[in-house]
Amino acid sequence: MSLILTIESTCDETAAAVIRDNLEVLSSVVASQEKLHERFGGVVPEIASRAHVERILPVIDQAIAKAGVTLADLSAVAVAHRPGLAGSLLVGLMAAKSLSLALDIPLIAVDHLQAHIYACRLAAGRDVFPCVGLIVSGGHSNIYRCETPLDFTPLGGTIDDAAGEAFDKVASMLGLGFPGGPALQRTAEKGDPKRFRLPRPLLDDDSRLDFSFSGLKTAVRYQLFGAGRPDMNASALDPQLIADMAASVQAAIIDCLAGKSLLALKRTSYQRLCVGGGVAANRPFRERLESLAAEHKFELHIPPLSLCTDNAVMGAIAIEKLKAGKFAGLDLDISAGLERIAAIAPI
Ligand code: KG4
Ligand code: ZN
Repeated sequence: MSLILTIESTCDETAAAVIRDNLEVLSSVVASQEKLHERFGGVVPEIASRAHVERILPVIDQAIAKAGVTLADLSAVAVAHRPGLAGSLLVGLMAAKSLSLALDIPLIAVDHLQAHIYACRLAAGRDVFPCVGLIVSGGHSNIYRCETPLDFTPLGGTIDDAAGEAFDKVASMLGLGFPGGPALQRTAEKGDPKRFRLPRPLLDDDSRLDFSFSGLKTAVRYQLFGAGRPDMNASALDPQLIADMAASVQAAIIDCLAGKSLLALKRTSYQRLCVGGGVAANRPFRERLESLAAEHKFELHIPPLSLCTDNAVMGAIAIEKLKAGKFAGLDLDISAGLERIAAIAPI
């Protein structure tokens, strides 16, 4: 039986896992950098890559030790090489290449977005393809037709901010701290989602499966502080007003994500929706999708919280490549960018 080491360093989590080729997870280690970026209200790329350099070897060592194996037992090493922050990606890639060379084992390239959807396969314990894949994270809000774990066709995505980015930026405006998503969700529990009328951009446009979240920030800003006011002091705001705004923003984001997910299911005629990425940890969002799944009779897969946010276990998608003999050479490079929305295939 083959053992694979998976490495994840696309953004601000340094992670490694040891997984058997029957998808049994022997260990999973995630070192979060939340505390390092907190005071900046967002991930600072240079700080992230330096922290990855410090953490990558201890994280790999821990993953190996926790799995009760040695490096010599590994059959392959897999690494998320796209998309993400360039400096962060490089750290994981160099560690993986070094291991591949030193241990003389194959190197496998993992697409981080495909891995997020594969988390649904892991959680389900059975095949979940074909499906509509919705990835909602700090950097992405994309919809795909996923025919197999490795065969994704983009159907739509955000034309500006990602859903997680919208949560983070509005949370920062409301003085709720970083990362904004969980903080905004907690605050929204005490709020009235109907108090503020906020836009649901592109939701009524059935001709496309795209999102646009950047206008939400501006709408929130104007409603809280008025137009043309550079000073935005959340500490002067009434706590109930903050809670009501948090609930209203969350409802607007969820409406957009849920609406386009339904449209994608309709367009593809698939009856299965797989959701991945940090925003999939949002409880009201999960509940909305669950009730839609019951109402519209589609199969819904959302991984447990630990598999929604970045981790190396979802790198188990590399086992699909291992089985297909799809290996990377030592010339494997990172690819930081997002795929071009303009290149989205017609449905
Ligand atoms: O997938 P992820 O861990 O990293 C990226 O690849 O970006 O996603 C992080 C994003 C952040 O924007 C964070 O605020 C958001 O996921 N997030 C949430 C929740 N938990 C994490 N957003 C809304 N509600 C949550 N409970
Ligand atoms: Zn991610």
